[in-house]
Amino acid sequence: MNPYPRGTVSARTYFIRTFGCQMNEHDSERAAGVLETMGYRPAADAEAADLVLFNTCAIRENADNKLYGQLSHLKPLKLADPAKTIVVGGCLAQKDQGQLAERAPWVDVIYGTHNMGRLPDLLAQADSAALPVVEILEHTEMFPSALPARREVRHHAWVSISIGCDNTCTFCIVPLLRGPEKSRKLGDIVAEVAQLVADGVREVTLLGQNVNSYGRDLVLAGEAGGAGKRNRTLFAELLHALGDVDGLQRVRFTSPHPKDFTPDVFAALRDVPNVCEQLHLPLQSGSDRILRRMQRAYRSRRYLDLVAEARETVPGVAISTDIIVGFPGETEDDFVETLRVTEAAAFDSAFTFEYSPRPGTAAAGMDGHLDHAVVNERYQRLADLTRRLSLEANQRQLGTVQQLLVEGPSKTDAAKVSGRTRTNRLVHVPAVPGAEPAQMVHARLDEAAPHYLLGAAVDAACDPPVGTPAPVAAGSAR
Ligand code: SAH
Ligand code: SF4
Ligand code: F3S
Repeated sequence: MNPYPRGTVSARTYFIRTFGCQMNEHDSERAAGVLETMGYRPAADAEAADLVLFNTCAIRENADNKLYGQLSHLKPLKLADPAKTIVVGGCLAQKDQGQLAERAPWVDVIYGTHNMGRLPDLLAQADSAALPVVEILEHTEMFPSALPARREVRHHAWVSISIGCDNTCTFCIVPLLRGPEKSRKLGDIVAEVAQLVADGVREVTLLGQNVNSYGRDLVLAGEAGGAGKRNRTLFAELLHALGDVDGLQRVRFTSPHPKDFTPDVFAALRDVPNVCEQLHLPLQSGSDRILRRMQRAYRSRRYLDLVAEARETVPGVAISTDIIVGFPGETEDDFVETLRVTEAAAFDSAFTFEYSPRPGTAAAGMDGHLDHAVVNERYQRLADLTRRLSLEANQRQLGTVQQLLVEGPSKTDAAKVSGRTRTNRLVHVPAVPGAEPAQMVHARLDEAAPHYLLGAAVDAACDPPVGTPAPVAAGSAR
């Protein structure tokens, strides 16, 4: 007998909590779209909602812990109101499957990374089931972008160009959860982007686990159409095609893999006006020995060459990265190599992580797992360095005037609005007429902190020609 019986009242409002990466943000927009086509409307919070959906992440252990903690907060809500529907989807659901149902039996529906489109059916099944309805598929043919969406902001959209990952980075659980890489047809992507622009979107971020291997499967299957004829990779071809979409002001993408980086992508960053001067290029480690153990098929020399080529080809480019500290077997010397490469790359920003063993990955079974105290001490040293580099990079912007796409009121100061430069820097400026969400303004940058800048709008509501290049601060070699 299910101790958490569901009620018969049909739920009408929903609340989604998203954990993890941009893929999940994007998936949540689709889940919201699916729920809204079923007649659900957004609720302010989990307490008020008739349906609560957690879209989960499993990349590190603390992601798991966070979810189970949050789910236990929902238990009393479910007991107080059995008609409340609780749904758990995404990566952790894919990983834990039945175990999740055992640990949190008050959940109604559990689905994975491949079947969000089945939500209406699963909810209908849950209406007559006593136990959690669990459906986890191994593969999908469906791109999340093909489902209806409810986007949080009007001016920006995520667009998936590929799903899954064919790489075998030994620390990473994503290929186990998201399946093999599959690219979406170029024409379908361009058509979606054109439709988004017609709906008021000005900036898109292309999503894939490894965007610069985009389209290899299409070429192999003879499905690339006429694209690729100009001797470009299909990814560079896609960037050029998006350059021709009228009214599309900004294109970003995440993440390219250093091993697959090709010069035609740098050329596209330079030549296609709406492709922004921004690159997220995950380093993971600066030590060649550790890169080998991670099965990352590039070495620090090649990585730094790529960084130099990017800065040379694309003036003003901002480069961000991901770095893991404390991979099994990492010595102090290996770590010092990471510090050296980080300093040499002069990253504009960095996401740094303590290594977290994920059952089922090759690294979890390696020897040489480190003491947490050692990892944490190294993590702090790296964080100090990346913070200083971010501050220095922002300081180099001072005195320049840059185009901002306004996002909305500043979260910390009601008298200000926040926007992003083409290089994805967060800038807060005093609110002036015309500096409305989704508008472009030019702002002079006056004050730098590691993670944001302060400035003042110099011409509100300007709509500059698409692709005004990001000015480079005087005296900056980068
Ligand atoms: N496909 C993306 C990465 C997705 S995961 C890419 O290759 O760029 C995002 C980041 O999480 C990774 O770049 C890595 O730095 C970090 N990460 C992945 N697995 C991890 C683990 N087991 N422990 C710590 N960090 C991890
Ligand atoms: Fe994980 Fe590596 Fe694939 Fe990125 S490229 S998702 S780190 S296996
Ligand atoms: Fe993203 Fe986390 Fe899944 S990082 S792909 S939501 S495991």
